[in-house]
Amino acid sequence: MAVIAGNWKMHHGPRATRDFFSSLVLPPNAGAHELLIFPTALSLAAAVDAPGRDPRVQLGVQNIHWEDKGAFTGEVSAAMAREAGAAFALVGHSERRHLFGETDKDVSRKIAAARRHGLVPVVCVGETLEERRGGRVEEVILGQLDAALPALTDVEGRFLLAYEPVWAIGTGETATPDDAAAAQGTLRARLDEALGPSRSTRVPILYGGSVKPDNARDLLAAPDVDGVLVGGASLDAGSFAALVEAAG
Ligand code: 13P
Repeated sequence: MAVIAGNWKMHHGPRATRDFFSSLVLPPNAGAHELLIFPTALSLAAAVDAPGRDPRVQLGVQNIHWEDKGAFTGEVSAAMAREAGAAFALVGHSERRHLFGETDKDVSRKIAAARRHGLVPVVCVGETLEERRGGRVEEVILGQLDAALPALTDVEGRFLLAYEPVWAIGTGETATPDDAAAAQGTLRARLDEALGPSRSTRVPILYGGSVKPDNARDLLAAPDVDGVLVGGASLDAGSFAALVEAAG
């Protein structure tokens, strides 16, 4: 079983969201996989109510605030996301970390908020090009994972990890299956230490960064690549279906 997740970022308002779900035709192998779409918070209700939506596609939000409510203009809480129909929350996406200054501490607080309200966190880690060139991939991704682990292991509950090298996001430059396997093997080893192997194997580690229908199969065949987190290629219903089909 693979996890095929689409992060729509700031694309698709309510109308385009309804159109996507109404026109999505999943391939016959879809039932073997876990399918997730992360629309904008504003389009979540349209996704929930889209006529003809296949219920095998579960929904999530791209970001939450760590407080349940309050004077935080422009933010959305985990409680609201859950009430509106989200089951998952991306936490610490590199665009949140690098464009909006989200820190490891923020990430931990958001994980805790997701957990409090029954959202499954999908925690994203990844190095920049400069960090990769400096030979610091392990240090950076383990640093991000270690910062999140106390919140992730604090209470029992499911979570997912996503390895998204910043240099591969939206650039058309994909990590090779070997690059992904190396980084994800490092994350897996740390999860084994922290959780014990039997609990660790239940944590899917996704790869994200310029995944397309034509490279998804090779990436998903790499060791420790349990799924993909896809931006651009998840926006079109036909392309999303092709990604699912590529999962075999
Ligand atoms: P792209 O697939 O567009 O490179 O985006 C990857 C990503 O950031 C998914 O969260």
